[in-house]
Amino acid sequence: MMGTVALTGLAGMSVGQSTLRPLPIIPMIDLIKGFDGRITLELAPSTHDFGTGVASPTFGINNSYLGPVLQVKQGQTLPFNVFNGIEEISTLHWHGLHIPGNVDGGPHQEIQPGATWSPDVPIAQRASMNWFHSHAHGKTAQQVYKGLAGVMLIEDDASLSADLPKTYGVDDFTLVFQNKTFGESGSLNYTLTETALDDGFIGETLVVNGVIAPVVQSVPKGLIRLRILNASNANFINLSMATGPLHVIASDGGFLASTVETDTLTMSPGERYEVLVDMRTVEINKLVVSHELPEIAGIRDYISEFNKRGLRSLIGKLLNEGEVEIAALTLNRQDERGFDASIPANLASLSPPDPTTAISTRSFELNQYTGADLGVLATAGDNYCGNGSAMAINGKSMAMDRIDENVRKGDTEIWRISVDDWRHPFHIHGCSFRILSQEGKLPPTYAQGWKDMVHVDGDQWSEVLVRFDYDAPKEAPYMYHCHILEHEDCGMMGQFTVT
Ligand code: C2O
Ligand code: CU
Ligand code: CU
Repeated sequence: MMGTVALTGLAGMSVGQSTLRPLPIIPMIDLIKGFDGRITLELAPSTHDFGTGVASPTFGINNSYLGPVLQVKQGQTLPFNVFNGIEEISTLHWHGLHIPGNVDGGPHQEIQPGATWSPDVPIAQRASMNWFHSHAHGKTAQQVYKGLAGVMLIEDDASLSADLPKTYGVDDFTLVFQNKTFGESGSLNYTLTETALDDGFIGETLVVNGVIAPVVQSVPKGLIRLRILNASNANFINLSMATGPLHVIASDGGFLASTVETDTLTMSPGERYEVLVDMRTVEINKLVVSHELPEIAGIRDYISEFNKRGLRSLIGKLLNEGEVEIAALTLNRQDERGFDASIPANLASLSPPDPTTAISTRSFELNQYTGADLGVLATAGDNYCGNGSAMAINGKSMAMDRIDENVRKGDTEIWRISVDDWRHPFHIHGCSFRILSQEGKLPPTYAQGWKDMVHVDGDQWSEVLVRFDYDAPKEAPYMYHCHILEHEDCGMMGQFTVT
């Protein structure tokens, strides 16, 4: 168990469904091998069974839920045709990519229903795990929740020749964690309330690659690589292994300097980490995930609420009234021999960030409380976050026609982010940065490599060292925002140019 206090009497109580489902392997498209003509990604309405036996209305990208895993290589230019088959405006943003603003897929690159957006996306950066998702202003939270998200794995010469597992679906697994809420009928539920706008939509049920956890996967006797994305709307998740530490090899923007051993790893929405698990020394190991629960009055109410639903929705072990823990992924070792190399010590050459290279500091205060009536906004518009004016950054809510910052291409800067309350994951488009301080201290060692997400909490600011190398003109600016998607939609977002 993680370091939380369980309530007497109900401590460690296990509730919910404990069916072990097979880990779904998300269909992978290997674009490194080449492609003919343009690469089609089709956003479409669908239905999907998350494991409850009920088909929920969803959105998918070439699939019934979520998109494919795209494997690509540094140096390629990817000609996409993104077709919008849903009956509302959408966009497709490449989160983590170092690409010019006009192909970034942010809120200005709207794709009308029935239209196709055809960006040529140049892959200039190092090996890293990235993702793509809807970024339609005011609609991002609901569209991503319904399934408009996918993974892009960038490789480079070094990563392809590295002594690491890389056989997709055999010893190299992509895990997309999301927190969802299911209704009594077993169908996917998304209802905005005052609390859901305030905290973000905290889902009570952990989903892995589109099915309700826990999941199980057979693996060979060898080293196993897990590439993990937290694509939740709002939940932070904490990871640990049932046996032994996590061996973290990469963060958002690529390999760490060396493998970092840690007992727990905290991932905000939007973050990616890669870890290795050594299945030569154990027959079974489990990836344990704990996550927040939505606000319900207390633990007894939780139990009765979930009893009412036939214990279908809440799974795992209640740690206390606000948190639940689940052995999300069981790895079962088979007899066949797998990838047999030692866990690498050194991974990439990465010197510590040097703040003296910064020529200026910009400050951003995230404003969760602007006096707006979240209760009224929550019910105003079809589960969309409405006019996007309830939250702000530096006192200003996101406005499509206002540029907030102008950055000079190639300049190194410090961005200092603070909040008026609570904890927020801050994201910047068009770059990878290094974290100088997070919540007033040095970040955990595993967060000291390339990142595009930083946690901001309480009275202490967080600082990142950042440089932008591509153009983002005023017609196609980059965004910075809180990655709690309801906060982003509520206006906790700003725009900047790079010229
Ligand atoms: Cu993951 Cu602006 O987005
Ligand atoms: Cu992004
Ligand atoms: Cu936020």
